Amino acid sequence: MRGLKLDVCTGYTCAVLGGNALRPILEEFPDLEIKEWECLGNCQNGPNIAIEGELHAQLTPVKLRGILSRRP
Ligand code: FES
Repeated sequence: MRGLKLDVCTGYTCAVLGGNALRPILEEFPDLEIKEWECLGNCQNGPNIAIEGELHAQLTPVKLRGILSRRP
């Protein structure tokens, strides 16, 4: 299984909207290629992470784990 490329927003708004709770989920998948950004331009719908270029908004730990677990 190849590592997915993730663009993770570490910006203030995403953090306030729950982004910090996503970090432990990312650590469950050590093969991820993570790049951090200060903003992905979708603050009002945070927290945001782009996976292989596809933006995933309003993420929760449960949603993120589900997406990462379902990958081919
Ligand atoms: S702060 Fe996360 S998208 Fe702007």
